[in-house]
Amino acid sequence: MQAPSSRRSLPEVVGTNATTILDGKRVAAELHERIGQRCAELKRDHGVIPSLAVVLVGNDPASRLYVESKAKQAATVGIRAFDHRLPITASTAELRRLIEQLNSQADVHGILVQLPLPPQIDANEILWVLDPRKDIDGFHPLNAGKLACGMDAVVPCTPLGCLLLIRSVQSKLAGARALVVGRSNIVGKPMAQLLLREHCTVTVAHSRTRDLAAECGKADIVVAAIGRPRAIAGAWIKPGAIVIDVGINRITDASGRGRVVGDVELDGALGRARAITPVPGGVGPMTIACLLLNTLNAAIRAGSIDNRLILSPLQ
Ligand SMILES: NC(=O)c1ccc[n+]([C@@H]2O[C@H](COP(=O)([O-])OP(=O)(O)OC[C@H]3O[C@@H](n4cnc5c(N)ncnc54)[C@H](OP(=O)(O)O)[C@@H]3O)[C@@H](O)[C@H]2O)c1
Repeated sequence: MQAPSSRRSLPEVVGTNATTILDGKRVAAELHERIGQRCAELKRDHGVIPSLAVVLVGNDPASRLYVESKAKQAATVGIRAFDHRLPITASTAELRRLIEQLNSQADVHGILVQLPLPPQIDANEILWVLDPRKDIDGFHPLNAGKLACGMDAVVPCTPLGCLLLIRSVQSKLAGARALVVGRSNIVGKPMAQLLLREHCTVTVAHSRTRDLAAECGKADIVVAAIGRPRAIAGAWIKPGAIVIDVGINRITDASGRGRVVGDVELDGALGRARAITPVPGGVGPMTIACLLLNTLNAAIRAGSIDNRLILSPLQ
Protein backbone atom coordinates (compact mmCIF):
# COMPACT_ATOMS: atom_id res chain seq x y z
CA MET A 1 0.00 0.00 0.00
CA GLN A 2 1.14 3.50 -0.56
CA ALA A 3 0.57 6.58 1.58
CA PRO A 4 -1.39 9.35 -0.14
CA SER A 5 0.73 12.11 -1.64
CA SER A 6 -0.84 15.01 0.31
CA ARG A 7 1.51 16.10 3.11
CA ARG A 8 1.03 18.49 5.96
CA SER A 9 3.94 20.33 7.48
CA LEU A 10 5.48 18.41 10.33
CA PRO A 11 5.11 19.74 13.87
CA GLU A 12 8.17 21.41 15.30
CA VAL A 13 10.49 19.38 17.46
CA VAL A 14 9.72 19.88 21.14
CA GLY A 15 11.48 18.82 24.33
CA THR A 16 15.15 18.77 25.06
CA ASN A 17 16.34 16.23 22.53
CA ALA A 18 15.92 16.67 18.82
CA THR A 19 14.10 13.81 17.10
CA THR A 20 15.13 12.90 13.58
CA ILE A 21 12.17 12.70 11.24
CA LEU A 22 12.95 9.71 9.07
CA ASP A 23 12.23 10.84 5.54
CA GLY A 24 11.01 7.72 3.75
CA LYS A 25 10.84 9.54 0.44
CA ARG A 26 14.55 10.32 0.59
CA VAL A 27 15.62 6.79 1.57
CA ALA A 28 13.26 5.36 -1.08
CA ALA A 29 14.69 7.71 -3.74
CA GLU A 30 18.20 6.41 -3.00
CA LEU A 31 16.99 2.84 -3.37
CA HIS A 32 15.15 3.73 -6.61
CA GLU A 33 18.40 5.05 -8.01
CA ARG A 34 20.28 1.82 -7.24
CA ILE A 35 17.44 -0.28 -8.69
CA GLY A 36 17.42 1.90 -11.83
CA GLN A 37 21.16 1.42 -12.33
CA ARG A 38 20.89 -2.35 -11.91
CA CYS A 39 17.90 -2.53 -14.33
CA ALA A 40 19.95 -0.62 -16.93
CA GLU A 41 22.83 -3.09 -16.47
CA LEU A 42 20.47 -6.07 -16.89
CA LYS A 43 19.06 -4.62 -20.10
CA ARG A 44 22.46 -3.69 -21.52
CA ASP A 45 24.34 -6.90 -20.62
CA HIS A 46 21.59 -9.53 -20.69
CA GLY A 47 18.72 -8.04 -22.71
CA VAL A 48 16.41 -8.56 -19.71
CA ILE A 49 13.76 -6.02 -18.67
CA PRO A 50 12.25 -6.94 -15.27
CA SER A 51 8.51 -7.18 -15.60
CA LEU A 52 5.71 -7.03 -13.08
CA ALA A 53 2.11 -8.19 -13.54
CA VAL A 54 -0.29 -6.26 -11.33
CA VAL A 55 -3.63 -7.99 -10.81
CA LEU A 56 -6.59 -5.95 -9.70
CA VAL A 57 -9.99 -7.50 -9.01
CA GLY A 58 -12.81 -4.94 -9.02
CA ASN A 59 -12.73 -1.22 -9.38
CA ASP A 60 -12.08 0.13 -5.89
CA PRO A 61 -10.80 3.72 -6.43
CA ALA A 62 -8.09 3.50 -3.70
CA SER A 63 -6.80 0.17 -5.04
CA ARG A 64 -6.82 1.58 -8.60
CA LEU A 65 -4.77 4.54 -7.40
CA TYR A 66 -2.21 2.25 -5.70
CA VAL A 67 -1.93 0.10 -8.80
CA GLU A 68 -1.45 3.10 -11.10
CA SER A 69 1.13 4.61 -8.77
CA LYS A 70 3.08 1.32 -8.64
CA ALA A 71 3.08 1.12 -12.45
CA LYS A 72 4.28 4.73 -12.75
CA GLN A 73 7.11 4.22 -10.29
CA ALA A 74 8.12 0.93 -11.91
CA ALA A 75 8.53 2.77 -15.22
CA THR A 76 10.89 5.33 -13.65
CA VAL A 77 13.42 2.60 -12.74
CA GLY A 78 13.10 0.61 -15.98
CA ILE A 79 10.65 -2.08 -14.80
CA ARG A 80 7.76 -2.95 -17.10
CA ALA A 81 4.41 -3.18 -15.32
CA PHE A 82 1.30 -4.74 -16.88
CA ASP A 83 -2.21 -4.39 -15.52
CA HIS A 84 -4.57 -7.36 -15.42
CA ARG A 85 -8.08 -6.48 -14.35
CA LEU A 86 -10.91 -8.78 -13.42
CA PRO A 87 -14.49 -7.73 -12.60
CA ILE A 88 -15.58 -7.45 -8.95
CA THR A 89 -17.74 -10.56 -9.54
CA ALA A 90 -14.74 -12.73 -10.54
CA SER A 91 -14.60 -16.17 -8.92
CA THR A 92 -11.64 -17.89 -7.25
CA ALA A 93 -11.42 -20.17 -10.33
CA GLU A 94 -11.18 -17.19 -12.72
CA LEU A 95 -8.45 -15.52 -10.67
CA ARG A 96 -6.68 -18.85 -10.32
CA ARG A 97 -6.64 -19.28 -14.11
CA LEU A 98 -5.14 -15.81 -14.57
CA ILE A 99 -2.42 -16.47 -11.96
CA GLU A 100 -1.61 -19.85 -13.56
CA GLN A 101 -1.26 -18.17 -16.93
CA LEU A 102 1.07 -15.50 -15.47
CA ASN A 103 3.06 -18.23 -13.64
CA SER A 104 3.73 -19.90 -17.01
CA GLN A 105 4.86 -16.76 -18.84
CA ALA A 106 8.67 -16.52 -18.87
CA ASP A 107 8.48 -12.78 -19.54
CA VAL A 108 6.61 -12.15 -16.25
CA HIS A 109 9.07 -12.01 -13.34
CA GLY A 110 6.82 -10.75 -10.57
CA ILE A 111 3.10 -11.04 -9.82
CA LEU A 112 1.32 -8.75 -7.42
CA VAL A 113 -2.30 -9.39 -6.46
CA GLN A 114 -3.70 -6.13 -5.10
CA LEU A 115 -5.48 -6.59 -1.77
CA PRO A 116 -8.15 -6.63 -0.53
CA LEU A 117 -9.84 -9.26 -2.68
CA PRO A 118 -13.66 -9.45 -2.87
CA PRO A 119 -15.16 -11.77 -0.22
CA GLN A 120 -16.17 -14.56 -2.67
CA ILE A 121 -12.50 -15.15 -3.52
CA ASP A 122 -10.51 -17.59 -1.39
CA ALA A 123 -7.35 -15.54 -0.80
CA ASN A 124 -5.49 -18.50 0.73
CA GLU A 125 -6.11 -20.66 -2.33
CA ILE A 126 -4.76 -17.86 -4.56
CA LEU A 127 -1.68 -17.51 -2.36
CA TRP A 128 -0.86 -21.22 -2.82
CA VAL A 129 -1.33 -21.02 -6.60
CA LEU A 130 1.17 -18.18 -7.00
CA ASP A 131 4.64 -19.31 -8.11
CA PRO A 132 6.77 -18.53 -5.00
CA ARG A 133 9.59 -17.28 -7.26
CA LYS A 134 7.22 -14.67 -8.71
CA ASP A 135 5.64 -13.79 -5.33
CA ILE A 136 7.26 -10.37 -5.03
CA ASP A 137 5.03 -9.53 -2.04
CA GLY A 138 6.65 -12.40 -0.12
CA PHE A 139 3.25 -13.62 1.15
CA HIS A 140 3.45 -17.22 -0.15
CA PRO A 141 3.72 -19.71 2.76
CA LEU A 142 6.98 -21.02 1.28
CA ASN A 143 8.54 -17.56 1.42
CA ALA A 144 7.13 -16.94 4.92
CA GLY A 145 8.54 -20.30 6.06
CA LYS A 146 11.94 -19.67 4.51
CA LEU A 147 12.13 -16.28 6.24
CA ALA A 148 11.23 -17.91 9.57
CA CYS A 149 13.94 -20.57 9.00
CA GLY A 150 16.55 -17.92 8.26
CA MET A 151 16.81 -19.02 4.61
CA ASP A 152 17.09 -16.80 1.55
CA ALA A 153 13.48 -15.71 0.88
CA VAL A 154 11.41 -13.06 -0.86
CA VAL A 155 10.80 -10.70 2.04
CA PRO A 156 7.48 -8.79 2.31
CA CYS A 157 7.94 -5.21 1.11
CA THR A 158 6.62 -3.20 4.07
CA PRO A 159 8.70 -4.94 6.80
CA LEU A 160 11.76 -4.84 4.53
CA GLY A 161 11.22 -1.10 4.02
CA CYS A 162 10.86 -0.64 7.80
CA LEU A 163 14.13 -2.45 8.43
CA LEU A 164 15.93 -0.32 5.84
CA LEU A 165 14.62 2.79 7.60
CA ILE A 166 15.81 1.51 10.99
CA ARG A 167 19.20 0.64 9.50
CA SER A 168 19.44 4.16 8.03
CA VAL A 169 19.64 5.39 11.65
CA GLN A 170 21.50 2.52 13.27
CA SER A 171 23.48 0.00 11.25
CA LYS A 172 24.05 -2.62 14.00
CA LEU A 173 20.94 -3.80 15.85
CA ALA A 174 22.31 -6.83 17.74
CA GLY A 175 21.03 -6.93 21.30
CA ALA A 176 18.50 -4.13 20.86
CA ARG A 177 15.08 -4.68 22.42
CA ALA A 178 12.55 -4.46 19.59
CA LEU A 179 8.79 -4.29 20.00
CA VAL A 180 6.53 -5.07 17.04
CA VAL A 181 2.94 -4.03 17.69
CA GLY A 182 0.65 -6.05 15.40
CA ARG A 183 0.93 -9.70 14.31
CA SER A 184 -0.48 -9.74 10.77
CA ASN A 185 1.06 -12.06 8.19
CA ILE A 186 1.93 -9.14 5.93
CA VAL A 187 3.56 -6.77 8.42
CA GLY A 188 3.90 -7.80 12.09
CA LYS A 189 5.08 -11.42 11.80
CA PRO A 190 7.64 -10.91 9.00
CA MET A 191 8.85 -7.76 10.76
CA ALA A 192 9.51 -9.77 13.91
CA GLN A 193 11.40 -12.40 11.86
CA LEU A 194 13.55 -9.73 10.21
CA LEU A 195 14.42 -8.15 13.55
CA LEU A 196 15.29 -11.58 14.97
CA ARG A 197 17.58 -12.09 11.99
CA GLU A 198 19.25 -8.82 13.02
CA HIS A 199 19.81 -10.36 16.49
CA CYS A 200 17.33 -8.11 18.29
CA THR A 201 15.45 -9.35 21.34
CA VAL A 202 11.95 -9.24 19.88
CA THR A 203 8.56 -8.89 21.57
CA VAL A 204 5.37 -9.06 19.51
CA ALA A 205 2.36 -7.24 20.96
CA HIS A 206 -1.27 -7.47 19.76
CA SER A 207 -4.81 -6.66 20.81
CA ARG A 208 -4.64 -9.00 23.85
CA THR A 209 -1.36 -7.62 25.17
CA ARG A 210 -1.93 -6.63 28.81
CA ASP A 211 0.18 -3.52 29.22
CA LEU A 212 1.25 -2.03 25.90
CA ALA A 213 2.56 1.14 27.55
CA ALA A 214 4.99 -0.92 29.68
CA GLU A 215 6.14 -2.90 26.62
CA CYS A 216 6.77 0.34 24.71
CA GLY A 217 8.68 1.78 27.66
CA LYS A 218 11.25 -1.05 27.41
CA ALA A 219 11.80 -0.98 23.66
CA ASP A 220 14.79 0.50 21.84
CA ILE A 221 12.92 0.00 18.57
CA VAL A 222 9.14 0.19 18.15
CA VAL A 223 7.40 -0.83 14.94
CA ALA A 224 3.70 0.01 15.13
CA ALA A 225 1.43 -1.80 12.65
CA ILE A 226 -2.04 -1.92 14.14
CA GLY A 227 -4.27 0.42 12.13
CA ARG A 228 -5.58 2.45 15.10
CA PRO A 229 -5.12 6.23 14.92
CA ARG A 230 -2.50 7.41 17.44
CA ALA A 231 -3.13 4.36 19.67
CA ILE A 232 0.47 4.50 20.90
CA ALA A 233 0.95 7.55 23.09
CA GLY A 234 4.13 9.54 22.60
CA ALA A 235 4.73 9.45 26.36
CA TRP A 236 5.01 5.62 26.22
CA ILE A 237 8.11 5.78 24.02
CA LYS A 238 11.43 5.10 25.72
CA PRO A 239 13.73 8.12 25.39
CA GLY A 240 16.16 7.52 22.53
CA ALA A 241 14.06 4.84 20.80
CA ILE A 242 13.66 4.45 17.04
CA VAL A 243 9.98 4.48 16.10
CA ILE A 244 8.60 3.18 12.81
CA ASP A 245 4.94 3.97 12.25
CA VAL A 246 3.36 1.70 9.64
CA GLY A 247 -0.26 2.68 10.34
CA ILE A 248 -2.36 4.46 7.77
CA ASN A 249 -5.53 5.82 9.38
CA ARG A 250 -7.95 8.23 7.76
CA ILE A 251 -9.49 10.61 10.31
CA THR A 252 -11.51 13.81 10.32
CA ASP A 253 -9.71 16.46 12.35
CA ALA A 254 -11.27 19.11 14.65
CA SER A 255 -11.75 21.49 11.71
CA GLY A 256 -13.71 18.82 9.83
CA ARG A 257 -10.92 18.12 7.34
CA GLY A 258 -9.96 14.59 6.40
CA ARG A 259 -6.35 13.56 6.88
CA VAL A 260 -4.13 10.57 7.35
CA VAL A 261 -2.39 9.80 10.64
CA GLY A 262 -0.30 6.92 11.93
CA ASP A 263 -0.62 4.53 14.88
CA VAL A 264 1.74 6.62 17.01
CA GLU A 265 0.99 10.00 18.51
CA LEU A 266 3.75 11.81 16.63
CA ASP A 267 3.68 15.13 18.49
CA GLY A 268 4.04 13.41 21.87
CA ALA A 269 6.94 11.26 20.65
CA LEU A 270 8.93 14.23 19.38
CA GLY A 271 11.69 15.10 21.81
CA ARG A 272 11.62 11.53 23.26
CA ALA A 273 12.28 9.31 20.25
CA ARG A 274 15.68 9.41 18.63
CA ALA A 275 14.05 9.00 15.22
CA ILE A 276 10.49 8.55 14.00
CA THR A 277 8.78 8.08 10.64
CA PRO A 278 6.04 10.55 9.68
CA VAL A 279 2.69 9.46 8.24
CA PRO A 280 2.45 9.99 5.35
CA GLY A 281 5.95 10.11 3.91
CA GLY A 282 7.66 7.45 6.06
CA VAL A 283 7.01 3.76 5.46
CA GLY A 284 4.70 4.15 2.41
CA PRO A 285 7.40 5.17 -0.12
CA MET A 286 9.68 2.38 1.17
CA THR A 287 7.01 -0.26 0.54
CA ILE A 288 6.89 0.61 -3.16
CA ALA A 289 10.68 0.85 -3.43
CA CYS A 290 10.98 -2.66 -1.94
CA LEU A 291 8.36 -3.97 -4.34
CA LEU A 292 10.53 -2.77 -7.23
CA LEU A 293 13.59 -4.28 -5.54
CA ASN A 294 11.87 -7.67 -5.21
CA THR A 295 10.82 -7.53 -8.89
CA LEU A 296 14.36 -6.75 -10.02
CA ASN A 297 15.78 -9.61 -7.96
CA ALA A 298 13.07 -12.03 -9.20
CA ALA A 299 14.13 -11.20 -12.79
CA ILE A 300 17.79 -11.90 -11.93
CA ARG A 301 16.93 -15.23 -10.26
CA ALA A 302 14.69 -16.26 -13.19
CA GLY A 303 17.34 -15.81 -15.87
CA SER A 304 20.72 -17.45 -16.28
CA ILE A 305 22.26 -14.34 -14.76
CA ASP A 306 25.06 -14.17 -12.23
CA ASN A 307 23.35 -14.14 -8.81
CA ARG A 308 25.93 -11.63 -7.63
CA LEU A 309 23.85 -9.03 -9.50
CA ILE A 310 21.08 -9.48 -6.88
CA LEU A 311 20.68 -6.18 -5.08
CA SER A 312 20.84 -6.72 -1.29
CA PRO A 313 20.48 -3.35 0.40
CA LEU A 314 20.79 -4.98 3.84
CA GLN A 315 24.35 -6.14 3.30
N1 LIG B 1 2.64 2.10 4.87
C1 LIG B 1 2.43 0.96 4.24
O1 LIG B 1 3.01 0.71 3.20
C2 LIG B 1 1.53 -0.08 4.86
C3 LIG B 1 1.54 -1.40 4.41
C4 LIG B 1 0.72 -2.34 5.05
C5 LIG B 1 -0.12 -1.93 6.06
N2 LIG B 1 -0.14 -0.62 6.42
C6 LIG B 1 -0.99 -0.15 7.54
O2 LIG B 1 -0.51 -0.74 8.73
C7 LIG B 1 -1.58 -0.98 9.64
C8 LIG B 1 -1.58 -2.45 10.00
O3 LIG B 1 -1.79 -3.22 8.85
P1 LIG B 1 -2.01 -4.81 8.91
O4 LIG B 1 -2.40 -5.24 7.55
O5 LIG B 1 -0.86 -5.43 9.60
O6 LIG B 1 -3.32 -4.83 9.86
P2 LIG B 1 -4.19 -6.04 10.44
O7 LIG B 1 -4.08 -7.25 9.61
O8 LIG B 1 -5.53 -5.44 10.71
O9 LIG B 1 -3.49 -6.35 11.85
C9 LIG B 1 -3.54 -5.43 12.90
C10 LIG B 1 -2.79 -6.00 14.09
O10 LIG B 1 -2.83 -5.02 15.12
C11 LIG B 1 -3.26 -5.61 16.33
N3 LIG B 1 -4.00 -4.62 17.11
C12 LIG B 1 -5.18 -4.05 16.81
N4 LIG B 1 -5.53 -3.16 17.76
C13 LIG B 1 -4.54 -3.17 18.67
C14 LIG B 1 -4.31 -2.47 19.89
N5 LIG B 1 -5.18 -1.56 20.34
N6 LIG B 1 -3.18 -2.75 20.57
C15 LIG B 1 -2.29 -3.65 20.12
N7 LIG B 1 -2.44 -4.33 18.96
C16 LIG B 1 -3.57 -4.10 18.26
C17 LIG B 1 -4.13 -6.79 15.92
O11 LIG B 1 -4.11 -7.72 16.98
P3 LIG B 1 -4.89 -9.14 16.91
O12 LIG B 1 -4.04 -10.01 16.05
O13 LIG B 1 -4.92 -9.58 18.31
O14 LIG B 1 -6.23 -8.86 16.31
C18 LIG B 1 -3.42 -7.27 14.66
O15 LIG B 1 -2.39 -8.19 14.96
C19 LIG B 1 -2.83 -0.50 8.90
O16 LIG B 1 -3.09 0.83 9.26
C20 LIG B 1 -2.44 -0.56 7.43
O17 LIG B 1 -3.17 0.34 6.64
C21 LIG B 1 0.68 0.29 5.86
